[in-house]
Amino acid sequence: MSDPSIRRILVTSALPYANGPIHIGHLVEYIQTDIWVRFQKLRGHECYYVCADDAHGTPIMLRAEQDGLSPQQLIDRIWQEHRADFADFLIEFDNYYSTHSPENRHYAELIYRRLDQAGHITRRVITQAYDPEKQMFLPDRFIKGECPRCGTADQYGDSCEQCGATYSPTDLKNPRSVISGATPTLKESLHFFFKLADFETMLKEWISSGTIQPQMVNKLNEWFTAGLQEWDISRDAPYWGFEIPDAPGKYFYVWLDAPIGYMASFQNYCDRVGLHFDDFWRPDSTAEVYHFIGKDIAYFHILFWPAELTGAGFRKPTAVNCHGFLTVDGQKMSKSRGTFIKARTFLNHLRPEVLRYYFASKLNDGIDDLDLNFEDFVQRVNSDLVGKLVNIASRCAGFITRRFDGRLADTLAEPGLYAEFTAAGESIAQAYEGREFGRAMREIMALADRANQYIDEKKPWVLAKQPAAATEVQAVCSMGLNLFRLLMLYLKPVLPGIAGQVEGFLQIAPLRWADLNTPLLGHAIAEFKPLLQRVEMAQITAMVEESKEGHLIATAPSATPGPLAIDPLSPTITIDEFAKIDLRVARIVKAEAVANADKLVRLELDLGGETRQVFAGIKAAYRPEELEGRLTVMVANLAPRKMRFGLSEGMVLAAAGGTGIYLLAPDSGAEPGMRVK
Ligand code: MSP
Ligand code: ZN
Repeated sequence: MSDPSIRRILVTSALPYANGPIHIGHLVEYIQTDIWVRFQKLRGHECYYVCADDAHGTPIMLRAEQDGLSPQQLIDRIWQEHRADFADFLIEFDNYYSTHSPENRHYAELIYRRLDQAGHITRRVITQAYDPEKQMFLPDRFIKGECPRCGTADQYGDSCEQCGATYSPTDLKNPRSVISGATPTLKESLHFFFKLADFETMLKEWISSGTIQPQMVNKLNEWFTAGLQEWDISRDAPYWGFEIPDAPGKYFYVWLDAPIGYMASFQNYCDRVGLHFDDFWRPDSTAEVYHFIGKDIAYFHILFWPAELTGAGFRKPTAVNCHGFLTVDGQKMSKSRGTFIKARTFLNHLRPEVLRYYFASKLNDGIDDLDLNFEDFVQRVNSDLVGKLVNIASRCAGFITRRFDGRLADTLAEPGLYAEFTAAGESIAQAYEGREFGRAMREIMALADRANQYIDEKKPWVLAKQPAAATEVQAVCSMGLNLFRLLMLYLKPVLPGIAGQVEGFLQIAPLRWADLNTPLLGHAIAEFKPLLQRVEMAQITAMVEESKEGHLIATAPSATPGPLAIDPLSPTITIDEFAKIDLRVARIVKAEAVANADKLVRLELDLGGETRQVFAGIKAAYRPEELEGRLTVMVANLAPRKMRFGLSEGMVLAAAGGTGIYLLAPDSGAEPGMRVK
């Protein structure tokens, strides 16, 4: 018989898209989930954490094409990168899989067939925007044009960034395909819909049973009031995904098979380790299933997903835990400010645990956004982890090593104080369980203060000077190290790497929650080595600098479209080689922002009769309107390059560095078309 106090828990984080790197915004979620999972495991529960790359959809298909890769090559490469980023942030999945997998195809088809048999799928012909050049239907995000309400140029097919209007892409004035630049036509096609409204009663009951946060219940009630629409789950070829059974040329929309990826990853894990999938997913399962997600994807997880599961004869999640979004220094992450920080860039400068701790100290069970404020970050990490936590060990360890041959005392000097520390365990555990990590960190740090206060009172460094007080030195330092061990145990979900170092230092087996009541007595420890360095502001500055794309300027042929990085240490070239570059004065006759590209401006350049289109990575430095009419210098004989947004026929020159981007301009008098040499 299994122990009924041991819970069986399956946990997931949202599946990151396989078309870009993991950044610190994502990490809020994976760190939050990982801490929760590690806590459950530490408590002795049977807990599994699975995830996967979300590998389907139009953006991945186009991105692969643009990079000259097959979709499979792209998703394989990104999968490796994501896995390495997560591993190095100490995020420990039991399985990290891909939605482009046989298991996922199996469950997507199974769920679809069951929904269809039960009458929850309906089919009808709809009219959609179509790119006649690229020969594909265009998702709203791939059409741009002028806002039908305010006339602002370059707005997406679904909404206007200028006036906030929402509309359908057919309402746009002068619409064009972001992919080919062609004017979209309208075309009919048969689509498949999931009848979400069939599940309204079930959903209302489900959300009122503690499965989602109160703030989300409000959001949901808005959606209910607006009415549950049928959900379009099919896409036409060409599409990168799974073909719908018995419907050639029709594919499952990426969001249909993405959450099913949770199941697929778990199935893959079950097959590997000999677990039973059904124990967790059958309708009457007593196991718990939790999804951790960002609030932006709540609609998919608290409406579609439980409805799909119910309709297909599976259990519903125990709870869906939403979190808010990360801002940096109070603002949205930004590439130009250098606050769009990739996981890898962070690791180039700092240890993962400082971010884990900082996020933990800010996280709670709500959906409010959380801010990474660099000054607060440096101060918090240094004060709590270095000043309070590590300090306890470094103040006590030396005496034990040097004077007592590394041996801890046989009894606890202050059993009452030790008991205070263990008694706090229940409240800390409750905080972890309820995702009140900030509260858990505050309670643990209050204990750390208490431990430091104890050492301050006893002053082992003074006692150490009195030969008669030798036993007391050992007693005090052993007490201090025992308190430190409890703090490390409490912090282990957040600081797994440091906990591992401490287990090595104390020469103990991996700490578990159940070790709380057994102090380390008469035990030999190893020599103390520094556990963590202070974070310096200079490291942050360097990290932000590395994240800036300010040193990147004009477009040039490269694997990915976008600015060319100028190497400051370029090799020398001959005058003949230089003469091959045809530099010309050009007048900017038109300049406009390129949607879907953070840094690009589309320029129309007059070369004295001839007009060229160039995409330049200067949006961070210039408002497009202010460029119109200006003279600049361009490379006129650069091989034209087809980009996602259109053809780039050259490159403009700009100085770029830490302080910004400065477009080059000739002195007054120069005329468009003049040669620059
Ligand atoms: N592929 C979908 C999820 C499918 S789940 C079946 C997706 N991917 S994502 O890469 O865009 O985001 C992955 C997760 O990271 C989401 O839960 C999202 O909310 C979260 N975050 C992405 N940027 C974030 C911040 N800046 N801050 C906090 N979380 C963020 O959505
Ligand atoms: Zn508008």
